Amino acid sequence: MDWGMQNRYNSLFNKKSGKTIFFAVDHGYFMGPTTGLEDISKAAEPLLPYTDVLMLSRGALRNGIDPEMTTPIALRVSSGTSILNQDALLHEGWSVSMEEAIRLNTAIAAFSITVGMPVSERDTILDYSALIDEAERFGMPTLAVTAVGRGLERDARYLSLATRMAGELGARMVKTYFCEGFEKVVETSLVPVVIAGGKKIPEKDALQMAKNALIAGAVGIDMGRNIFQSENPVAMMRAVNGLVHEDLSVKQAYKIFQDLK
Ligand code: 5RP
Repeated sequence: MDWGMQNRYNSLFNKKSGKTIFFAVDHGYFMGPTTGLEDISKAAEPLLPYTDVLMLSRGALRNGIDPEMTTPIALRVSSGTSILNQDALLHEGWSVSMEEAIRLNTAIAAFSITVGMPVSERDTILDYSALIDEAERFGMPTLAVTAVGRGLERDARYLSLATRMAGELGARMVKTYFCEGFEKVVETSLVPVVIAGGKKIPEKDALQMAKNALIAGAVGIDMGRNIFQSENPVAMMRAVNGLVHEDLSVKQAYKIFQDLK
């Protein structure tokens, strides 16, 4: 990695733990004002002291976040479908230039590839590859968002395929989902892996999933709905922060959530 890319990449990680928490609030680019993100400022700003990275679209950044923010940005640079278009869900293309990403002081550019989706996988893979070429020119690491689409069985076999493909394409980091046998996904991944939280589940279960992923070798988590749709997002983020950066047990982290909520 050249100096700039190394500097951007290093900024994603907590220096003490070597791990990372991405707080994902990018959902609006295809879901609209989804529950918990109606007011992006209110959703994101109270959580900034406890996250390592903020993941969002350029519109949410420009219109909802104070430029005083010093939290590294994971910028959503793929788009093209909405939740109304279920047949082509996440059949996305490259939608934000690297010049714009640099202008917005982005630390990592996030792009979804739909491995396994018959109509869209080729387009998303080729578009992502073109993005990587351009991103590398600008010293911009990219995050491949994988295992997105419909009807995909998110087991170790599929997640290993999608994650490894992303690394082979040139991703500098991959976001995928947790599964049984996740250590196999990590072992065969060419680059560090973070897990998405997925749909909202009880806080204790979300903490357990995050812990299991870290034990299996994930370098962090990229969680959205399980934080901003929690009954108390700050309490949940503080619990996640303790789990990821202070190696707390699930029991200890969940107690933080219960005490603070
Ligand atoms: C939405 C995304 C999110 O960044 C990713 O799924 C993490 O959010 P969540 O924990 O809610 O799944 O890519 O398009």
